Amino acid sequence: MPTTIGVPRETYAGEKRVATVPEVVEKLVKLGFDVCVETGAGDAANFSDDAYQAAGARIAGSASGLYDAAEVVLKVRAPTTDELALMKPGTTLISFIWPAQNPELMQVLAERKLTVLAMDALPRQLSRAQKMDSLTSMASISGYRAVIEAANAFGRFFNGQVTAAGKIPPARVFIAGAGVAGLSAIGTAANLGAIVRANDTRAEVADQVTSLGGEFVKVDYEEEGSGGGGYAKVMSEGFQQAQREMYAREAKDADIIITTALIPGKPAPRLITAEMVRSMKPGSVIVDMAAEQGGNCELTEPGEAVVKHGVTIIGYTDLASRLAKQASTLYATNLLRLTEDLCKTKDGTIDVNFEDDAIRGLTVVKEGEVTWPAPPPKLPAAPQAKPAAAAPAPAKKAAHGHGGAEPASAKGLAVLFGVGALLFWLVGAFAPASFLSHFTVFVLACFVGYMVIWNVTPSLHTPLMSVTNAISSIIAIGALVQIAPPLGAGAEGRPGTLILALAVVALALTAINMFGGFAVTRRMLAMFRK
Ligand code: NAI
Repeated sequence: MPTTIGVPRETYAGEKRVATVPEVVEKLVKLGFDVCVETGAGDAANFSDDAYQAAGARIAGSASGLYDAAEVVLKVRAPTTDELALMKPGTTLISFIWPAQNPELMQVLAERKLTVLAMDALPRQLSRAQKMDSLTSMASISGYRAVIEAANAFGRFFNGQVTAAGKIPPARVFIAGAGVAGLSAIGTAANLGAIVRANDTRAEVADQVTSLGGEFVKVDYEEEGSGGGGYAKVMSEGFQQAQREMYAREAKDADIIITTALIPGKPAPRLITAEMVRSMKPGSVIVDMAAEQGGNCELTEPGEAVVKHGVTIIGYTDLASRLAKQASTLYATNLLRLTEDLCKTKDGTIDVNFEDDAIRGLTVVKEGEVTWPAPPPKLPAAPQAKPAAAAPAPAKKAAHGHGGAEPASAKGLAVLFGVGALLFWLVGAFAPASFLSHFTVFVLACFVGYMVIWNVTPSLHTPLMSVTNAISSIIAIGALVQIAPPLGAGAEGRPGTLILALAVVALALTAINMFGGFAVTRRMLAMFRK
């Protein structure tokens, strides 16, 4: 019997998204599932019951009918009390949950003997999990929409223009926080022609800001801003003071400020004070994307757009839902990728397999037992991040602070070289001369390979592997030598038919490896280019 996947209509006030779309229904049906959608579930996102039916779904006439039929429920928002009451024990629920913020909900989910996968609990650092990262897809839609909301409330063009009636300067947009949402906002505002400046406590995002057409504005204070896993941490009081001074300068100049700064598990950092709002030109706009977590701006009213001191402050908490069709499509695709991983057998059944790091991370309740938080996933070895400065010092003083660990590593290197030299002497003294030359080349190759690979950014390791794979086709030379022996070699120097045939096969296989390797590398590198 195929498992029934049920997709209810979202009941949270104002929520327009839906957890699946017709094109995804088709794929779920191909995976062997029976799909049931509540009538009207896609109306607000422009997906009709007819479209779902045409894609192979059944339509349930009511929520109770839907929850009765469903063994797996796909949802956007965490379930309300009414929705929970309709779910049968043993149902698998996949939706946003936010377990840290909703301990009572977690309790009820467990009591009702459900299995729950929280889309917000995905271990995002696993590159394999990126295809199901709905936090990223929703944040990037919200960033785009924030700029559109700002443009709507702003009384001028974004791009500068020279017209017969006079010169119009471009709008100046300042973005606070350059994570997924911030970067999306930077790209959108820059494409509309605005001058975009951005700041983030994590200095490593500076290049990404520039590549999207923005200018990174640094806080004049040296402190590491990464709190691990690509997220930020709470900064020292000294840093915050320097940051406030910089933000005050930027606010005076900016026409539009979009704030996206968040720190996991903490209230949103207060970055824009009432004083800064007062200093902005009348008609300016602030979009506070952190409104739901308390707001980055002191004057934000969550869920509302208000005008204070002549500045429109937008605190909408449903930015992704305002682009319902796009958001539903991306979310449904994220859910499809997850379902594919849950149904490796492609037979319409799911297996919540705890051996899989991504599925383990997502599962917050299993058969009525709370399994959140998950242990950290096993990650491939990556270069260690530099430890954060224990006592942050102002920029100028911090310049030459390191060096304490160097003598130890220099000693280690000296020992290593000593052992290496001894090994060479032994080989030189006792091995045949031809072996020594091959051995020297081998050792040098190891050294060069080590230096090259260890200095490459982890994100480029996959293309690097495919290029080295292609280069390893150097063994083709061996095959060529066998096919065409050196000039002047007599009949006795020619290889036998078997060796010749093997050499031809080796050459053919190596050619596939070589050309395939270079082609794959080219495609992978193309993904890093804009
Ligand atoms: P987020 O929504 O938690 O934070 C948004 C941004 O605000 C972050 O860039 C953060 O550094 C910044 N921020 C926090 N406090 C600030 C302050 N006081 N002043 C200025 N900026 C401040 O983070 P989001 O957007 O969900 O992801 C952040 C990063 O996580 C991404 O940029 C990426 O590097 C990483 N990530 C990694 C993934 C992966 O490895 N597969 C997937 C998704 C995200």
